[in-house]
Amino acid sequence: MPKKDAHTLVSQMTLDEKIHFVVGNGMKLPGGGDGGAAVGATEDKLPGAAGTTYAIPRLGIPSVVLADGPAGIRITPIRNGDSTKTYYATAFPVGTLLASTWDTALVRNLGVAFGNEVKEYGADILLAPALNIQRNPLGGRSFEYYSEDPLVSGNMAAAIVNGVQQNGVGTSIKHFVANEQETNRTLVNTIVSERALREIYLKGFQIAVQKSNPWTVMSSYNKVNGTYTSESKDLLTTILRNEWGFKGLVMTDWFGGKDVVAQMNAGNDLLMPGTPAQRDTIAAALKSGSLSQKTLDENCERILKIVMQCPAYNTYKFSDKPNLQAHAQVSRLAATEGMVVLKNEGSTLPLGKNIKRIAVYGNTSYEFISGGVGSGDVYEAHTVTLTEGLSAAGYTVDRTLQTAYQPYLLKERAKAPKPQYFFSLPAVLPEMQVSSEAIGHSADENDVAIITIGRNAGEFQDRALENDFTLSNGEKGLIDNVTKAFHRSGKKVVVLLNVGGVVETASWQATPDAILLTWQPGQEAGHAVADILSGKVNPSGKLAVSFPMQYSDVPAKDFPGKNLSDIPEKGVGGFSLGYNSEVKYEEGIYVGYRYYNTFKVQPAYPFGYGLSYTSFTYSGLKLSSSTFNKTITATIFIKNTGSVAGKEVVQLYISAPTDKIQKPAEELKGFAKTRLLKPGESQTLTFTITPADLASYHTDAVAWVADAGTYSVKIGASSADIKSTAVFNLPAAITVQKAHDVLKPQMTVNEMKQ
Ligand code: GLC
Repeated sequence: MPKKDAHTLVSQMTLDEKIHFVVGNGMKLPGGGDGGAAVGATEDKLPGAAGTTYAIPRLGIPSVVLADGPAGIRITPIRNGDSTKTYYATAFPVGTLLASTWDTALVRNLGVAFGNEVKEYGADILLAPALNIQRNPLGGRSFEYYSEDPLVSGNMAAAIVNGVQQNGVGTSIKHFVANEQETNRTLVNTIVSERALREIYLKGFQIAVQKSNPWTVMSSYNKVNGTYTSESKDLLTTILRNEWGFKGLVMTDWFGGKDVVAQMNAGNDLLMPGTPAQRDTIAAALKSGSLSQKTLDENCERILKIVMQCPAYNTYKFSDKPNLQAHAQVSRLAATEGMVVLKNEGSTLPLGKNIKRIAVYGNTSYEFISGGVGSGDVYEAHTVTLTEGLSAAGYTVDRTLQTAYQPYLLKERAKAPKPQYFFSLPAVLPEMQVSSEAIGHSADENDVAIITIGRNAGEFQDRALENDFTLSNGEKGLIDNVTKAFHRSGKKVVVLLNVGGVVETASWQATPDAILLTWQPGQEAGHAVADILSGKVNPSGKLAVSFPMQYSDVPAKDFPGKNLSDIPEKGVGGFSLGYNSEVKYEEGIYVGYRYYNTFKVQPAYPFGYGLSYTSFTYSGLKLSSSTFNKTITATIFIKNTGSVAGKEVVQLYISAPTDKIQKPAEELKGFAKTRLLKPGESQTLTFTITPADLASYHTDAVAWVADAGTYSVKIGASSADIKSTAVFNLPAAITVQKAHDVLKPQMTVNEMKQ
């Protein structure tokens, strides 16, 4: 039978079917009833998936399954207590680690494996990637996000969308837009200038839409300049569809927004997870005329066009047997490519051939964190612990320490408050105290010490400053005591940062010999760490987010915003609070390195920074012309001048003329990672610079304009390590795109100025 087109099918739907079709089937938590908690598991079709759409069997329209999350498909691993058949998923590295690979080809390949798992477990649309900006280190979901920079965020998102969708399943780029905090996320009004919105917060989504064609977009919980994003026609229709050409469907975040009719009229096609009250409201609005039949039909048609692409519509017989072994290798490879060596004094790493016995310190060494909590969590069968990884790599892990930590953690865990919800953070246990005698003994008995500092975070809560962004006294004391003892014995100390977001390092980074930022590396954690420590893999990761010297240096000063109600403030951290609030993005476009470089504030570790076990030279920077005409290409010659094979992440920054409007000192406009270069090998990298790359958003002109003047092309190993510079001139301004004068703040945003 010839496939009917969506328009025809919609015309055959009854009114009641249309009303049901734009509202999800609800949230059925086991024991939680219909419409229970904000995020959880629906028992329809695929247990543990986040939601499903309404089926219309008489028209051959199935229900499709929407499943979280950005680091792996989150579904219930054991059904009805029957563990003879399990549904564990692969826990891939978290978003911020993937961005630290700076390798879109690798991330795309990971997406292919990831999408296969989504398909073979019977889901249709993956509720990922998440690409909000890491504006402030205390943001609770930074682990799920990619970067402080929209070019990295957008390209990483596009890469994983292309990979996942290659399997014939969909994605949902989220949370659209300006949802950079958890505190009060469903009520907070993000107040932000049009320029910062366009250049920083929308830009990543624009890149993702135009480079990967995601099937769906998930609008965010918050308001932008006074209007809920899910209710904003300016955002969802004028910008997303009319300016950017998005063709897919827009869904709400779970129970996001308030005014259902405004959502329908805005172009927020699908209300998830869906409640009966929403259907009643739509029915009443149709009767009263506040919602037109035409709009309802348009929303139905956009949903149906996506449904018709889904495996469920094409009755795909999924296996429930994705190749988890193969995907584990994909996860391990990505993890090694995204870890970042921050310090490596005296070539402590890779561990020498003579290093066999390892003293492993730190609670988290024995409870290694694969990923964050909340909808971005994954239920993997097993996380390879650090000690397992080290042992598998042939190291001998100090038994005395292991047999001290393990019972300590068991006892403390037993005493700690139990997580209340699936998205609750596990209690942070006090660092086990180790006597100086025991530490001294371990320094005699072992060849090196490893200390892991762990941090976890997730949905519903932002991070705290003390003992979260900063290290606890117990952690600092451990680093000091172990380092003193091991240095006395002529041995070295490596600190591992098993964290999902930025932590303070300046006050202690001088103490240990090496620091490896493992991030939250997914299920193959221990193996990936051992691959790097042993030198089996030469680290090539670089930071996609700045590490500030201290929290007070962070330019995003207003976080998490001001309480507008009379509920007493509880400050940052802890469960997101349900009070009306507003947060002002007064740093404007000066987020992360855009601020540190422009205002000359030294970070502890700069954006784009990461060490290798080899060294590279940059030479021969050449521009195709010294005058810009249509495009300019920049070529650079990278050579491995060290003794081991390695890959180099090369960044292209632009410094633009500032006579028309203020601009950051540098902005990232291109990046590339070399292939694995053997010692002595070299590679020429070519970057193409377009007018869009040069354009800034001119609010008064309501347009993207590349201003006339002299531009500097800066090729860097990081945002603070420019290797080579060349200049070109743009003789006359180019208006790259006229925009629409929308999403204006209701008040002047008192933005940071140079
Ligand atoms: C959540 C999250 C979103 C997730 C959705 C479904 O509240 O904000 O990222 O995809 O609900 O679980």
